[in-house]
Amino acid sequence: MTLIENLNEIVGEAFAAAELDTKFGQVKPADRPDLAQFQCNGALAAAKVAKKNPRALAEAVIEQLSGRSEFRDLTVAGPGFINITLTDSFLSTQARRLKSDENLGGWQTAIPEKVVMDYGGPNVAKPLHVGHLRAAIIGESLKRIFRFAGETVVGDVHLGDWGMPMGQLISELRKEQPDLVYFNEDNSGPFPSDPPVTLADLERLYPQASAACKADQTRAEEARVATFELQKGRAGYRALWQHFLTLSRSAIEREYADLGVTFDLWKGEADADHLIAEMAQNIRDKGLVEQSDGAEIVRVARDDDKKEIPPLILFKSDGSVLYGTTDLATIVDRKQSENPDRILYVVDQRQSLHFEQVFRASALAGIFPEDRLEHIGFGTMNGKDGKPFKTRDGGVLKLRHLIDQVTTRARERLAESGLGEGYGEDEVADIARKVGIAALKFADLSNTRTSDYIFDVDRFTAFEGKTGPYLLYAGVRVHSVLAKARAAGAGEPGDIALATPEERDLALVLLSFGQSIREAHSRRMPHILCDHAFVLAQAFSKFYAACRIVDEKDDVVRASRLSLVGVVGDQLHLTLELLGIEAPERM
Ligand code: ARG
Repeated sequence: MTLIENLNEIVGEAFAAAELDTKFGQVKPADRPDLAQFQCNGALAAAKVAKKNPRALAEAVIEQLSGRSEFRDLTVAGPGFINITLTDSFLSTQARRLKSDENLGGWQTAIPEKVVMDYGGPNVAKPLHVGHLRAAIIGESLKRIFRFAGETVVGDVHLGDWGMPMGQLISELRKEQPDLVYFNEDNSGPFPSDPPVTLADLERLYPQASAACKADQTRAEEARVATFELQKGRAGYRALWQHFLTLSRSAIEREYADLGVTFDLWKGEADADHLIAEMAQNIRDKGLVEQSDGAEIVRVARDDDKKEIPPLILFKSDGSVLYGTTDLATIVDRKQSENPDRILYVVDQRQSLHFEQVFRASALAGIFPEDRLEHIGFGTMNGKDGKPFKTRDGGVLKLRHLIDQVTTRARERLAESGLGEGYGEDEVADIARKVGIAALKFADLSNTRTSDYIFDVDRFTAFEGKTGPYLLYAGVRVHSVLAKARAAGAGEPGDIALATPEERDLALVLLSFGQSIREAHSRRMPHILCDHAFVLAQAFSKFYAACRIVDEKDDVVRASRLSLVGVVGDQLHLTLELLGIEAPERM
């Protein structure tokens, strides 16, 4: 139970004892920390229901609580708020529990579920770009938070490997090398096991093909036909496609690894292809499919829709499938192979209409309940011009370049701050990489998921303010206090006994960890953990400035403070880990 849950229970009971509904006993951290630690506003709402004076009700609740050992101070404020301050002994007992709790006060769900998390979505043959960056960073963190909360999570990369880009590539290669065995229609294989192209070829061929198709109708038609034939199962095309997939996957895997992002499943859109025919037949049998200009569509609009929700196109008039079809069939696949309770899609907010269509069609067709399919949308990373981030030459920036850029800047910052001085070259490079990635990830995660933000390397890599580097540095400082204590023979950490304002504040932050996890989990919002890490680092700073630790004379106080520092270090480290941020030992 988190501290807040504990207080909710106690205060809720007091409301009940005062003949009011327990639900009014909700406690939250005080808006005015200078006046109290917590507050309960429930008497105001209860008074409305009971048609009584809120201040009188607040007094009645306080009456019920008086004499309990948990509270040092209970007062009525303003129109009927209850201000709550805890006793040091209660707070100290709570803080001591953190020390022996392997979850460090973290919250766990009572009803764990199995969740498939879809947070990749890179497209084969196209380099991973910043558009995929947020999905990876946010999804990796949510996966960790969910697992920590006790859920079973299967992360799926869901490669984009089945659409028009594949046909564009195949037809482009055919223009360059028409004599390859793959293009002989009569050849049913087997085909060579070595790919006929390199990764560099793919990266060159794709933009070339896509530009050509945009400029020329006839060329676009060739790509359409190639896509169609690939999906229909033309042997040479399938073999080529398999090569593209293998080459691309290893490159994509490397880029994700650089970011500390991993997946349990490396499936793609194509993996659901074999399920489409039967799925479509089932949907037709249910009478849900309509013909429209030769295409087959499923109407998903509802009477109470505020905006127009167009039908999901199951098959185009030539019989080829679209994004919605593969996503729907992928739900069938996930149900068959993973049987999850819930599926989360961590994908750009701009795709919300697509997911609305897919989820509704899924519900109509009885594939998967709509309320267990969630689009976890996110905003855009913009450049300083306020438009989606691009490189200087206007192209989409590659992830690799982005990581290089933040790492280089992090290295300069370290030097400017005199950090890492005298360390070996390898270690400095490793620290710079960790600081750079932390800067990038923290900047991304610390915004509310749904808002846009501006990419700004200078701000991200600063060691001051709410940044990744600041938090890594805070972690290193905590380590160094403990190392100093060991070196000085300051003795073992002992029972936590809080006595000063800075110790109390620090303990309150540590004890709010469970609530932070709980909220980050229920709202699918990692920024709540970013806030926690930042507030914790700040509370530690104040404590460190105000309280002697290693050179504290009183053995009992010193031992208590060493324990507190230990818990701070562990919880900060854990919080960063849940954000997917790797911390250096020293810097
Ligand atoms: N490949 C898609 C893109 O690049 C993203 C896929 C997201 N996941 C999904 N199940 N639709 O836009």
